[in-house]
This record gives sequence, C-alpha cells and structure tokens, in this order.
Amino acid sequence: MNFKHFTKVLLQWYPQNKRELPWRNTQNPYIIWLSEIILQQTRVAQGLPYFHNFLEKYPTVYDLAAAPTDDVLRMWQGLGYYSRARNLHACARQITQEFGGKFPDRYASLLLLKGVGTYTAAAIASFAYKEKVAVVDGNVFRVLSRYFGMTDDISSPDGKKAFQSLADKLIPKDVPDEFNQAIMEFGALQCTPKNPDCTICPLRQGCYARQHEMIDMLPVKIKK
Ligand code: ADE
Repeated sequence: MNFKHFTKVLLQWYPQNKRELPWRNTQNPYIIWLSEIILQQTRVAQGLPYFHNFLEKYPTVYDLAAAPTDDVLRMWQGLGYYSRARNLHACARQITQEFGGKFPDRYASLLLLKGVGTYTAAAIASFAYKEKVAVVDGNVFRVLSRYFGMTDDISSPDGKKAFQSLADKLIPKDVPDEFNQAIMEFGALQCTPKNPDCTICPLRQGCYARQHEMIDMLPVKIKK
C-alpha cells in the first residue's frame, strides 16, 4: 500500500503550509482541551477570539471551575451548541474535584471526562502527551476516503471504526502529534470539501479519488 508515501508527504507538507495557531505552541492539556472544545462545530476564524477571551478570563482549569455557570455561558454567547459550554464547565469542575486539578494523561482516562469523546481524547493525548492515537474528524474522513478510496459510510459506527483503524495504522510513533495536526490541516487547506485544487496537491499521485474521478463522491455519508 501507499502508507509510507502518504505519511511522508503529509509530514513534509505540514511545516511548509501550516497556519500559526496559538494552541499549537503548547503542550498544556488545559489549553489544548479548551481549544478543541471551542473548535468542535466551529471554524478556526470564529473560534479564535473565544479561545483568547476564555484563556484571559480563566488562565487555569481552577479559574474556570470556580466561575459561575452563567458567566461561562455568557462567554460562550455566539458559538451555539450550549451543551458544549455546560460540559466545558462541568469538565473543569470534574478535573478539580476528581482528578486533583490535573488532566488525565492517557487516552483511555481522558474518555472519562464530561464532553470528551474519542476525537477530543485523541487530540489531547497526542498533542499534550505524544500518545500514539489518531484523531478522526471530518477532515480526516475526507483525506483518507479520497486518498485510499475508502467507501465506508462515515455516519455508521462500523464506518467510523474503519477510518479509526486505518488512521491508527498510519500514525507514526515518533511524531504522532505532528501527524494528527498535519492530516487535519491538510483537510482544512488542501483537500477541501468543495473544489480542491488537485493540480497543486502533493498527494495527487496515488490518490484514488483523483484517479477515479470520485472527489465529489467521497467521503460517503448516508443520511439517516
Ligand atoms: N480544528 C479542530 N482542532 C484543530 C486543531 N488542532 N488545529 C486546527 N484546526 C482544528
């Protein structure tokens, strides 16, 4: 398979093309967690000011845990999906009350946190602790489905598992954090949902979707 080629090209592309984003310059799990919760269902440009405001007002998980819920919800105004804000606050309290103020440092333990699912646990575990566990989000579905020609339905549990399994095989053990950032950034900037510019894509050779004219058909999402 093209596993080695895919990973190598991705890791070469990333440092030359990545955006400078504040949560990429830290291994602080609180900052990483905060950024990932804000960025769920939210674009980077929209999430950035919220990220800065939250960190300024609540520099540590203790500050966030001690805040009144109403303040947190007010800070969240405009981002939508208020369950995320409630979970954010509940998780901060959980960390201070059940975990002695320290984030768990393993993927499996991170999953115990309120509002933290497989994606967020993988992001924190890899970015903060360099654990070799792959993130799978919308960007990753798109990049992998197109390059490897995966037609599994991303809205089904089995389909999701197939992508997780492939991503976990691709992720290198020396730079799992770089790989995860790289594949998401590649999906955000190069392998875009609509009209990707394949003429300049460093992965065009070996890309299944491009060879089979299936760019617009992948990933497969069967509406329920
Ligand atoms: N969207 C979600 N997580 C992200 C990250 N770590 N970097 C850029 N965009 C993201």
